[in-house]
Amino acid sequence: MDMDSIVSLCKRRGFLFQSSEIYGGLQGFWDYGPLGVELKRNVKEAWWRDMVSCHDDMNTLDGAPSPYAMEGLDCTIIMHPQVWKCSGHYDLFHDFMVDCKETKKRYRHDQLNGRWVEAKDKKIFVTAPAGDDELEVMTKRALKFYNLRNKNIDDLKWDGDSTCLTEIEDLSVVLGPDAKQLGTLTEPREFNLMFKTFVGALSGEEGAAYLRPETAQGIFVNFKNVLDSTRHRLPLGIAQIGKSFRNEITPRNFTFRSREFEQMEIEFFCHPDKSRDWYQFWRDRRLKWYHDLGISGDNLIMREHTPEEAAHYSTGTADIEYAFPFMAEGEYGELEGIAHRGNFDLRSHMEGKLDENSDTLEVQLGEDGKPKWKGSGKDLSYRDDLTNEKYIPHVIEPSAGADRAALAFLCEAYTEDEQPDDKGKMQTRTVMKLHPRLAPIKAAVFPLVKKDGMPEVAKDVYLKLKKDFKVFYDEKGAVGRRYRRQDEAGTPYCITVDGQTLDDQTVTIRDRDTLEQVRVKIDEVSSIVKERVEG
Ligand code: GAP
Repeated sequence: MDMDSIVSLCKRRGFLFQSSEIYGGLQGFWDYGPLGVELKRNVKEAWWRDMVSCHDDMNTLDGAPSPYAMEGLDCTIIMHPQVWKCSGHYDLFHDFMVDCKETKKRYRHDQLNGRWVEAKDKKIFVTAPAGDDELEVMTKRALKFYNLRNKNIDDLKWDGDSTCLTEIEDLSVVLGPDAKQLGTLTEPREFNLMFKTFVGALSGEEGAAYLRPETAQGIFVNFKNVLDSTRHRLPLGIAQIGKSFRNEITPRNFTFRSREFEQMEIEFFCHPDKSRDWYQFWRDRRLKWYHDLGISGDNLIMREHTPEEAAHYSTGTADIEYAFPFMAEGEYGELEGIAHRGNFDLRSHMEGKLDENSDTLEVQLGEDGKPKWKGSGKDLSYRDDLTNEKYIPHVIEPSAGADRAALAFLCEAYTEDEQPDDKGKMQTRTVMKLHPRLAPIKAAVFPLVKKDGMPEVAKDVYLKLKKDFKVFYDEKGAVGRRYRRQDEAGTPYCITVDGQTLDDQTVTIRDRDTLEQVRVKIDEVSSIVKERVEG
């Protein structure tokens, strides 16, 4: 399976197009075509049904440590700017970028590994001369970003002769002894990943607002509203699907890293003492979800973060990763993160910013000594009406990307095999083996030939099925070619009306993957397809 074949099929068959393509496209933005929009809707629908609407909140049939409730939300993309200050995005959601004046290459700071990497090629490290003030500034910012603020930069030793901060090198934040290799670097530019906009007629800072970089914060700030309006007891999960925006410096790998994308996030509020069990539960449950929808084997892994990688508030984070075809051999790309966020977000929205070095809350002071910003001042703690215990819930966050999931399902589905054509000659067949729940079109209906009353019967079958599913009718060309087109679209079932249909009111159902054909009564087609699609 190579990425070029998948990208070309996506364009050819209408899964994905470059945004604004006729104007040359816009980097990091993608449009879903007729098949793609159905696929992505099905991914989101499967997630919502499995996690929210079909969840049984009175039992533990899903293996949960105790019964729990699930509710949904749909919050706005633009929120009060203070949300992003309290969440940390305003101060910390930055990338750092430098350009090499000689080679014209651009470098960005790899947040996970703490290294400067070439914006295109992950393997090249930027170096900078020793004693460079800018390096120190950049490093301080990077340290801040990495939640290593408990390390005081002034305590770090400069190694007079060499070209970098030795301690920093140990921390792998900035590396490389050979400064000359890369030549002179432009000024480092700090790059806030949030898209800025202006609300109302004010175009100055008073009107400044941001497109949300994650859906999670809408859930945190509504926690009390959901609790009060539903009267649930904890544990309670609140789910949201929606667009998020990040002005990524290096959008790439098709939709994998886009600037506009959709997230499917759950914030799961529970008692602090039970949070480790819930963390484990959600890791297993989310991994199983991908397995159940067809991604399995060595292509999917669960990777626990090292303590250095984890956010400062997190007492555990794991990524579900997929071996995307554009990754190097043995490498995986993140599909979803499951994080134990402690009570960081609720506390921060209550009172101010959580000081990551202690368990106290800190309100930042400006130069005039006045608080620069603080939380909402609202009490977001929870009182259990049975035990009367009051506490700030801990949160487990399974956070998935709808676009990344759709891309992984597409990559996993792409298959080529050898099958005989209409004349019995072996041909390469491209087939998208999408799980029937995710397939854009559930069934295609064909008359074998365009005569003898077959199209009329086939149209009748098509109209009946259309009430329940996305169905496709096709009467053009040889039936073998019509099957091939549906194989490429990932349609799991093809229903054919033939000569025998006119005698006994039966049709054939062809299975995309096994190519088996079974003959069934017309009246039963709908329930058979429904059962196979929904399982
Ligand atoms: N609330 C936590 C959060 O947003 P994240 O790891 O930054 O965590 C969660 O994002 C998921 O969102 C990722 O696992 C990925 O699937 C998706 N995602 C993040 N950035 C993305 C981007 N630029 N393009 C496409 N999907 C992205």
